Amino acid sequence: MAFNRTLITAALPYANGPVHIGHLAGVYVPADIYARYLRLKGKETLFVCGSDEHGVPVTIRARKEGITTQQVVDRYHELIKRSFAEFGISFDIYSRTTSPTHHQFASDYFRAMYDAGQFVEETSEQFYDPETGHFLTDRNIRGECPRCHSLGAYGDQCEKCGATLSPDELINPYNAETGNPLAKKETKHWYLPLDQYQAWLEDWILNNHKEWRPNVYGQCKSWLDGGLKPRAVTRDLDWGIPVPVEGAEGKVLYVWFDAPIGYISNTIELCQKQPEKYGDWQKWWKQEDTRMIHFIGKDNIVFHCIVFPAMLKAQGYNLPDNVPSNEFLNLEGDKISTSRNWAVWLNEYLEDFPGKQDVLRYVLTANAPETKDNDFTWADFQARNNNELVAIYGNFVNRALVLTNKYFEGRVPACGELNDYDKATIEEFKNVKATLEDLLNNFKFREAQKEAMNLARIGNKYLADTEPWKLAKQIETSDEVAKRVQTILHLSLQIAANLAIAFEPFLPFSSAKLRGMLRLNEAAGWEDLGRIDLLSTGEQLGEVSLLFEKIEDAAIQAQLDRLERIKKENEEAAKAEALKNWRPEPVKAATNIDEFDKNDIRVATVLECTNVKKSDRLLQFKLDDGMGERTILSGIAQSYPDPSVLIGKQVLFIANFPPRKMMGIESQGMILSAVDADGKLVVTTVSAPVKNGCQVG
Ligand code: 2FM
Ligand code: ZN
Repeated sequence: MAFNRTLITAALPYANGPVHIGHLAGVYVPADIYARYLRLKGKETLFVCGSDEHGVPVTIRARKEGITTQQVVDRYHELIKRSFAEFGISFDIYSRTTSPTHHQFASDYFRAMYDAGQFVEETSEQFYDPETGHFLTDRNIRGECPRCHSLGAYGDQCEKCGATLSPDELINPYNAETGNPLAKKETKHWYLPLDQYQAWLEDWILNNHKEWRPNVYGQCKSWLDGGLKPRAVTRDLDWGIPVPVEGAEGKVLYVWFDAPIGYISNTIELCQKQPEKYGDWQKWWKQEDTRMIHFIGKDNIVFHCIVFPAMLKAQGYNLPDNVPSNEFLNLEGDKISTSRNWAVWLNEYLEDFPGKQDVLRYVLTANAPETKDNDFTWADFQARNNNELVAIYGNFVNRALVLTNKYFEGRVPACGELNDYDKATIEEFKNVKATLEDLLNNFKFREAQKEAMNLARIGNKYLADTEPWKLAKQIETSDEVAKRVQTILHLSLQIAANLAIAFEPFLPFSSAKLRGMLRLNEAAGWEDLGRIDLLSTGEQLGEVSLLFEKIEDAAIQAQLDRLERIKKENEEAAKAEALKNWRPEPVKAATNIDEFDKNDIRVATVLECTNVKKSDRLLQFKLDDGMGERTILSGIAQSYPDPSVLIGKQVLFIANFPPRKMMGIESQGMILSAVDADGKLVVTTVSAPVKNGCQVG
C-alpha cells in the first residue's frame, strides 16, 4: 500500500500533574523526532495530541489538592501544554478531552456503536460505599493484599508486592477516600465484546504486523493467547462524558473509551479551524492512503493495539500501521512516580537549566528506553552534555565558525583542490542520509541520533587532524597554505551545515541556531543531507555564539540534593501512610487450649541488650529466665536506637523453640513483640514485677 500522508498520535497525558522526563522520553520526544523528520522530508504529516482530562486520576488529584476537578484539569492542561511547547514538541494541535468538540464526538461515537448493536449490556454487582452512595473504581478501593498481606493495596494492584489484583480479591476492602467499609450493589454497564474481535485481531496483529517492536508484538500475543474478554466501556462516576443512552443516568464513558477517540476529535477540531491547511478530517482517519502511527508508553499497549483498534474497526476507521511503544525510564535507579514526586518535572528543569531544552532531548534520546527500561542519572546527563554535545558537536561547529571569522572575515572561503584525506572524509559521511533514514523509518531513534553525532565526530576529527589554526601562521606568506586553510574551512562549514539538518529532528533549537549562524538557506531540507555545496563561497556568516555550554558539578549536585530530600520525605510519608492504614489482623482460624499449651511462653528479665555487629536489624538479649541465662536474638533493632533502655525490663519469650543460629550467634527462643502507636515493632514488657521463669497462659 502506498501511503500519501502520515497521521502521528502521541498518547494523551492525564491532566493530573505536570509532565516529567519519563513522559518526554517514552512518548513525546520520539513522536516529535518522527514528525519533524517527515516534515523535513516534505511529507504530508499531522501530529495530534491533547490532555486526557477524564478518569479517576484527575478526580483523586482534585480531592488531594482540595479544589474542583475542573480546576485541576484547567491548571494542568495549561501547564502541560506550555511544557510541550517549550520543549519544541511540534504538535499540530494540542487540545483537551473536555472540549465541546470531543464531548460531542465521543458521545456520538458511543451512540453509533450502541445503535449498531456493538455493545453487550450486563448488570453485575460492584463495590459501593453505602455512606456516600458512590460506586467505586478499582483505584479508589483499598484493602489488605491477599498475597503479601500488606495493608492499603489498591483494587487493581498491590504496590508492595506488585501483584495485579481485582477489588474482589482484597481482604476487608474500604473506600480509599473515606475509609468506609464497602458493600456490593447491582449496576448496569455496557461492554465492548472483545471476544468477538479475537480472531480478527489475531490475524491482523500476529500475522500481519510481525514488524511491530518485539515488546509490543509480545504483549499483544500474550493478551490474545489469554483469550479476550468483554470490557466495560462505561463507569459509575460523576466526572466524564455522560453515557448517551436512556437509563444510564449517573454513568459516564470509561476514560479509556473516550481518550483515544480524542485523537479523532482533536483532528476534527483542527481541520475545522484550518481546513485550507489540513483538509477534511476524514481524509486523516478514513482514507486508505493515510498511515497512522501511535506513539505510546508500554502501559498503553493493550488499549492502542487491541481495544481502540476494535472500536475503529467497528466503525470503519483506519487502523494503526505501527504502534512504537517504549519501555519505562527510571530516575536514579528508582521508578518515576508522580505521587511520590520522584521525577524531573519539565517546568522545574527549565527553571534550573534555562535554554537547555535540547540537552534534555539529547540525553533522553541517547538513553531512550526503546527495548528495555532505562535509567536517567544526573551524572550521565552531565557527561553527555560535556563530553558529547559540548566537546564534539559544539566544539567542532564553534571552531569552524570562529576560524572562518578570524581568517576570512566571516565569509565562506573557496574550496580548492581536495586531497585524499578530504575525499575520505566526504566519503565517510556520504551514507549518513541513507543510514539515518533507515533507522528513523524503523523508529530506532536512539541509534539514529548516534549516527548524527557520528557526523559531528567526523567533522571534529577532520579539524583536529588538519589543524588549520597551525597552518594559518603561514597564511600571509604562502599562497598554497592559504588555499589549504580555505579548503579545510570550506569543507568544515559544509559539514556543519549538514549537521544542522541531520540534528534538526532531534535538537530543533540548536539546529535553528546553527542555521542562523551559517545563514543556511531555509529551503535546505532533508533531501540535501550529504551535499557539500549547501553553503556558497563568499556568503557572509551570521553572528557566532556557543551551541552548548558546559554544565558544572554544582548544578548537578543541586539536583542530587533535591532527590535526596524527596527520598527522605517519601520515607516519612510512607511510614505515616502505613500507620494510617493499620488495621488489626483478622482473627486466625479457631484453635484450642491444647494447641496453645504447646507454646511454652515465659517471663524473663533483660540483663544485657546490644546491637549485633554488622546487622542493622538484630538485637542480642541476655536474659535471666529464672533457670539461668539465655541468649535470644530479635529483629527489632530499628526500633531501638539505644537498646540499653531495655535492660532491667521483664519481657515475654517462647522457651521451647529449637535454637537457631543467626550471624554466628545461637538464639534460644523468641521474644514477643507488638506494634506501638508509631507503628514500630517493640518488645512486649510486663508492667507489674513477676517471677522470672513463670509461665504465661
Ligand atoms: O496513560 C495515560 O497517561 C493515558 N492518559 C493515555 C491515554 S492515550 C489515548 F488513548 F488517549
Ligand atoms: Zn501484596
